[in-house]
Amino acid sequence: MFRSHGYLCHSFIEKEIVVFKSDVLIIGTGIAGLCTAIQLAIQRKDLRITVVSKTNIDESNTRYAQGGIAAVWDRIKDDFNKHILDTMDAGDDLSDEKIVRIVVEEGPKRVQELIDWGSRFDKINKMEYDLGIEGGHSEHRILHYRDLTGAEIERALIEKTREFDNIKILEHYYAIDVITQHHLGYNVTRVMNDIECYGAYLLNQKNLEVETHLAKITVLATGGAGQIYRTTTNPIIATGDGIAMLYRAKGHVENMEFVQFHPTALYNPTGDNPAFLISEAVRGFGGVLKTKDGAEFMQKYDERQSLAPRDIVARAIDSEMKARGEDFVCLDCRHLNKEEFILHFPTIYKKCLSIGIDPMEQMIPVVPACHYMCGGIKVDENGNSSILKLYACGESTCTGLHGANRLASNSLLEGAVFSYRIANDIVSKIDKLVLNDQIPEWDATGTAHPKEMVLITQSIKELKEIMSYYVGIVRSNVRIRRALNRLHLLFDETEELYNSSKLSTALCELRNLITIGYLVTRSASMRKESRGLHYTTDYPEKHPFKQSSVL
Ligand code: FAD
Ligand code: SIN
Repeated sequence: MFRSHGYLCHSFIEKEIVVFKSDVLIIGTGIAGLCTAIQLAIQRKDLRITVVSKTNIDESNTRYAQGGIAAVWDRIKDDFNKHILDTMDAGDDLSDEKIVRIVVEEGPKRVQELIDWGSRFDKINKMEYDLGIEGGHSEHRILHYRDLTGAEIERALIEKTREFDNIKILEHYYAIDVITQHHLGYNVTRVMNDIECYGAYLLNQKNLEVETHLAKITVLATGGAGQIYRTTTNPIIATGDGIAMLYRAKGHVENMEFVQFHPTALYNPTGDNPAFLISEAVRGFGGVLKTKDGAEFMQKYDERQSLAPRDIVARAIDSEMKARGEDFVCLDCRHLNKEEFILHFPTIYKKCLSIGIDPMEQMIPVVPACHYMCGGIKVDENGNSSILKLYACGESTCTGLHGANRLASNSLLEGAVFSYRIANDIVSKIDKLVLNDQIPEWDATGTAHPKEMVLITQSIKELKEIMSYYVGIVRSNVRIRRALNRLHLLFDETEELYNSSKLSTALCELRNLITIGYLVTRSASMRKESRGLHYTTDYPEKHPFKQSSVL
């Protein structure tokens, strides 16, 4: 039902269709989108590359990354096998070992490129980088820039992008849907049912016109979907648009049940959106998790204690909070060196002070918050989705790297590694492609009723409640069934609204959020085991064999 409402059905004020053409259309300006554009432009100055952001160029999950980017850098103490084992271990045996090896082995070259393109990482002296450690890592291998790594990488990438005349950036353009067409045919062995992508429909948010952007190749680099939950570290742009668009276009998504909750978002009773992150690097630096009364508890759950992988720590916190009826646990940093703490975590220190907590004097109240989608658009080792001429990169994808749980600081790395592979794959194919301007007709029927903003806001609230209550850290069959029933109702109501109101970004985002909520819940209902981030009281054990959930 969630897929059956066609991707060609849109409603907006009827206007003359404006058509734009590029060789490559990249949707997203985080690490995945910008690195893909730069890698392409370095190889081919003749390609017309358009990169789209739904708000300002720098507003993305990338910008908020704190801890850093993982890579085997110290070749004496660390090696590729250790990083591979740590990633596989965190992924709870669901990661694809071939992909893990690719990312880990190609990682250092891509990080070196980020440095060559201007990203700064902290050093201990002129030659050596200050390598941090986070949960699940057996060695120090996280390159970071204070607690602002993502902002620093994003800054450098934006500057690098501006060096290329053939990269055009469109800010405040909202991708509504990808333009696709089915090709039904036969070969000797099977019926072929190939879907091809020709670009995307973009809502120009300055004049509210829908523009048709055609491209030989389209890349979805639209990031995550944390906004389906009430408490999330993700900025408000993280509404899973790319995943929802691809699903509407009948592409495949995978492992959507594996939603990563970061154990330590700053607890704020007023409910910040997004919730401010207290980086795992703080625990890597010596911060210790305790209950309100100052008792350590992680030793009951894992021998790695505060630095166990995130799924284990988040579940332990959830369990302590429920058992004690408390709204948060605490991160104790009072024993750490003040100058060093401020040097490493200036933003975290300032944020805590701003809400009246001095981390050197008081424990920091923390709660788990939705942080990262491990599942997403199913792609192969070169970023090809199941739809022809449509690639995907970054957090919107499921590459096989993270399996059932992502290892800290492997996400920026994945974006950097896959963007390079995607660019190479595109360059090897693009000269054989022609731009198809025989696009499917845009259905401009619909009404110009003003959008019902209150209804949209209320539905988003309901969605967040449903997902937080029923499809959170601990799940069960009953909860999942309840969530599915309620999501179906929300879906029907939203489709009705979509088909009768004026098109708006808020309405499109609501539609996408509901689709993502459904994908997470449906995938959770299919997994009859507990593994990694998916824990259900009805099937508390892990299956001996691994199985992916593809929708
Ligand atoms: P994003 O950076 O989220 O970029 C998405 C882009 O897509 C944006 O430009 C957006 O405008 C655009 N977009 C989306 N939808 C549309 C649409 N419909 N139309 C047009 N444009 C659209 N990972 C690590 O490895 N290390 C860390 O230390 C780390 N810390 C983190 C801290 C926080 C608080 C958060 C939230 C995440 C952190 N992560 C970290 C995860 C990591 O930051 C992200 O997974 C990664 O940056 C995602 O990059 P991306 O390019 O795929 O997506
Ligand atoms: C953090 O700094 O704790 C976030 C790291 C990550 O999500 O990879």
